[in-house]
Parts: sequence; C-alpha cells; structure tokens
Amino acid sequence: MKNIIILFSGEGSNLLNLIRQLHPSECHIAAAITNRPSAGGIEKAKAHKIPVHVIDHTLYESREAFDEQLVQTINSHQPDLVVMAGFMRILSPTFFTLQTPSINIHPSILPLFKGAKAIEKSFQSDEELGGASIHWVTEELDSGSVITQRSFNKSIDETLESFTEKIHTIEHSLLPETIIEILNGQK
Ligand code: GRF
Repeated sequence: MKNIIILFSGEGSNLLNLIRQLHPSECHIAAAITNRPSAGGIEKAKAHKIPVHVIDHTLYESREAFDEQLVQTINSHQPDLVVMAGFMRILSPTFFTLQTPSINIHPSILPLFKGAKAIEKSFQSDEELGGASIHWVTEELDSGSVITQRSFNKSIDETLESFTEKIHTIEHSLLPETIIEILNGQK
C-alpha cells in the first residue's frame, strides 16, 4: 500500500474528500500537515484518526527554517507522494531538498490565473471556461507541468458562489482520480 502526505492551510474540504475516497482502500494517508493552528481541516483529519502535524510558520524566523522543518516532518513518514491541497505557502529552495514527488491542486485552468485569488480572477475574466488543474510542484509558483485539468462553461447567470461550487466539485473528483493514477504509475 502506497503512503501519501497531505499539506493544507484552510478548511480542508479537499483533505476530507481524500480521506473519504482514498483512505485506506486506495492508499494510506500517513499524515496531514498544516502551517495554520486554526485551520478547519485539523479537526476533520483528527475525526478520521489521521495524524496531524501543525507547523506554525509564524514561529519560524525564515522561510527556509520553516521549510526545513516541513521536509523533516514529511520525510519521517517516508511517503510516496506529497499532495498540496490548499497549502498557501510560497516554497523556498530548501523545500526542494525533498526527494518525494509533490503535486498541487490549483483552482484555474493553468497557465491562466496563477497565484492567490485564482477563483475570483477567473470568475471576473472574459474567459468562457472555469476549471481546476493539478500540476507537479516546482520552484516557480503554480508553474510545474500540468498533470490533469478539467473545465466547465460559465453559465449566463453564474455568480461567484455558483462558480466556486463548480470548481470545488471538479476538485473533489479530479484530485483523488489523479492521485490514484500517479500511484499506479499511469502519470
Ligand atoms: C482549493 O480551491 C484549492 O484549489 C485552493 O485552495 C482551496 C482549498 O480548499 N488552492 P479546501 O481547504 O480544500 O477546502
């Protein structure tokens, strides 16, 4: 059985969805790691007996020092894959001493709308499509090669709420499917 680690910063809806869809039938979620002590995902993981590490970035004097602790914590679980699901951190070169492949989910059709507020930017743009992408994590933000993406047409009466909901629905099928494909060596 392959091991994965999930990194998150917020509500953890993707985290919860991965726990429900993958653990333990498809793979073992060895741990979840967050940089925010108040992240809603912490209770969701604990409720499913997934070990949670809180590495509060405000307690570290530099980005590198935080990333060093992050890499050490990830390595202690010897995962096959690291999954960033709403992990809101800019990574320093120190993170890339990690030997494990890492993927990230981003709520736009990359390369469009990299970085923060991607859902809002994508909603407000003239683009007819919205969607989500999963890409390999590299040193440049949201710029690693795209592994999978899925899109939908904006409807005429689309609101930010309905648009956001559609993106989350896509994320909740795309991310587990992609993880399974990667672990099976199909990606
Ligand atoms: C997702 O939309 C993800 O694409 C983005 O942050 C959001 C995380 O939501 N990077 P959640 O914490 O999984 O609910």
